[in-house]
Amino acid sequence: MSWHPRQLPEQTGRTVVGTGANSGIGFEAARALVGRGAHVVLAVRDPAKGQCAAKRMAGTGRTTVVELDLSDLDQLSDCATTLLDRLDDVSAVICKAGVMGRPLRLTAQGFERQTATNHVGHAALVARCGRCLISAPRASSWCRAPKRAAGSCRPRRRGSSS
Ligand SMILES: NC(=O)c1ccc[n+]([C@@H]2O[C@H](COP(=O)([O-])OP(=O)(O)OC[C@H]3O[C@@H](n4cnc5c(N)ncnc54)[C@H](OP(=O)(O)O)[C@@H]3O)[C@@H](O)[C@H]2O)c1
Repeated sequence: MSWHPRQLPEQTGRTVVGTGANSGIGFEAARALVGRGAHVVLAVRDPAKGQCAAKRMAGTGRTTVVELDLSDLDQLSDCATTLLDRLDDVSAVICKAGVMGRPLRLTAQGFERQTATNHVGHAALVARCGRCLISAPRASSWCRAPKRAAGSCRPRRRGSSS
C-alpha cells in the first residue's frame, strides 16, 4: 500500500502538538500537517533545533516551538503549563520523540532514561494536556470524552441508570 502526504485531509483549524518534531518521523509528521494547514506546536528538547526544523516546513499551516524534555517531569510540567496557557484546544498529540539503546542512566525522578523518555514522559504529557484535547472541536474521535461522561469526572456507580 502506498501513501503520500498529499492524501492527508485538510487540517486548517486544528492544533497538533508534536514531540520529537525536529527530526526523523516526528519532523515528517509535523511537516505534512503544516503542509495541510495545521498549527503544529513543535515540542522539542532543543528550541534552536526546533526553529531550524520549523523553517524547513512550508504550507498553509503555522508552527510554534516550545521546549520539552520528556525525561524530566519537572520541565515537562512547565511545558504543559505553557501549552495549557497558550492553547485553547489541541486536536492531537503526536508522540514521536524517543531514544533507544542508550547506556543505563536514571532520570532526576529515578526512571530508567529510555522508559522515561519514550513512555512515562509521553503519558504524563497527554495526561496534562487532557483538558485541551477533550475540548477540541475537531479532535480525533478516540480522544474525545464519551458523551455520557460530559460534565462529570466521577465514575458511574454500579447499578446507576444515568
Ligand atoms: N525510524 C524508524 O524506522 C523507527 C522504527 C521503529 C521505532 N522507531 C522509534 O521511533 C522514535 C523516533 O524515531 P526517529 O527515527 O524519528 O528518531 P530520531 O530522528 O532520533 O528522533 C528522535 C527525536 O526524539 C527527541 N528526543 C530524544 N530525547 C528527548 C527528550 N528527553 N525530550 C524530548 N525529545 C527528545 C530527539 O530530540 P534531539 O534532536 O534534541 O535529540 C529527536 O527529535 C524512536 O524512539 C525510535 O526508536 C523508529
